[in-house]
Amino acid sequence: MGSETSPNEKVLLENLDDSMVIERYIGFSKKFSPMDGVSCKWLQHNFRGVKVRVKRGDEILEIPVDTTKEGDALVEVHSFPESLKKLTIVNTRLIEELKKRGFLKFKVRRTKKKLSQKQVRHKEAVEKSSELVYKAKEGVEVSKGASKAVENLLDDTRDGNMEMGDISQYVDNIIANESTEAIGILTSLKKSDQTYAHCVDVGSIFQSVYIKMMERQGVELSAEKKSEMLLGAFMHDIGKSKVPKDILDSTERFERDSREMQLMQSHPTFGAEILTDLGSSDMIINMAHYHHVKLDTYMKSSYPKVDEYDDVIMETRLIAIVDVYQALVGRRSYKKSWAPPAAIKFIEQLTGIEFDMDVWDSFFQIMGKYPTGSLVELSDGSMAFVVQPADEDLDKPKVAVIRNAKGEDLTSNPLINLAYEQDITIVKDLDNYEALGEACLDVFTNMKIS
Ligand SMILES: [Fe+2]
Ligand SMILES: [Fe+2]
Repeated sequence: MGSETSPNEKVLLENLDDSMVIERYIGFSKKFSPMDGVSCKWLQHNFRGVKVRVKRGDEILEIPVDTTKEGDALVEVHSFPESLKKLTIVNTRLIEELKKRGFLKFKVRRTKKKLSQKQVRHKEAVEKSSELVYKAKEGVEVSKGASKAVENLLDDTRDGNMEMGDISQYVDNIIANESTEAIGILTSLKKSDQTYAHCVDVGSIFQSVYIKMMERQGVELSAEKKSEMLLGAFMHDIGKSKVPKDILDSTERFERDSREMQLMQSHPTFGAEILTDLGSSDMIINMAHYHHVKLDTYMKSSYPKVDEYDDVIMETRLIAIVDVYQALVGRRSYKKSWAPPAAIKFIEQLTGIEFDMDVWDSFFQIMGKYPTGSLVELSDGSMAFVVQPADEDLDKPKVAVIRNAKGEDLTSNPLINLAYEQDITIVKDLDNYEALGEACLDVFTNMKIS
């Protein structure tokens, strides 16, 4: 636990924390000692009403800020009026501001006990997961709308009018709100149709994993690039617009080499043609063209035929993994879905045969063994949703408990970081739908994480 300290403790900028209120500013960068005309004016304007102590020549003066002069060296700023309270209550924003302006040392008093490192980490994890849950809740409608827009896009393309229509707006909106991760999580929670919601789910998961992969390599993508890629990922199956709708919507398994199967397997080539006509980038075309090509290109399930797996770019290798993950986890009316951890295990076994190992490793590190949104049973008999993947030990993600060991549903959902718990472990992954029925989406999106 943090310790109580005496009033008016002296603290350097880097040791400020949000348990503190600043009483006096007592250390300044060179631009305040002495002040030139600009610094002096700036201080008078931004610290209106405070008192200052300055060194003027050999004298130390205690004066109102508006009587300071060029050449005064600032020694102390104090007696903040009510209107400048925000310059005294320490938070991350203020610290940033102080750093930028050259305020270096302070006298502070503490308002509350300083949180321990563990409490701070808990608070941050709660905030982060709560935001994700909130975005997932918002994402339900966005994802429905985007699926409808993809359906319209495919219909329009089928009719020969290739217009982006609403879909671009959804893409820009999703990127602006940074909601791809949250929308991706919905995959295992909501019911989805075969083609259109699939495109939206795949696009969202692909994009959120890709952004994190790039961040880990120190690459930050621009908003335009993110939008372009999300749109491209949404359109990876656009070639399905050239497949007759009855075949597309059919839930039957077609015979190998049947006309239906051949048409279905032509969708990547159709897609590449459509996107070429639309003037899409090579990367987007590659994603549509080769997302069903397997590492072992001679496999029957690998199509279209390519000479070299090297023709398949990294982004396409990633979307190939996401494509299968979504197909397993997505809840369709005609088949049982897989729990996310089971889907992860399954794909892991195909890596090195069907999927690129390096890209899989990145996907696995980011999604974890228990992707966010997985429902698990804990060793104490309670039931919990995974709300953040593990930091290091992939068996130990952060979870929020939704039902206690007695089988009672909780109205407030405590967050547990399994990495810090000796006695609580995951003992089983559960099927969202079997455990919670249609309510599983509502249960997840209405969690109050504490
Ligand atoms: Fe496809
Ligand atoms: Fe697909």
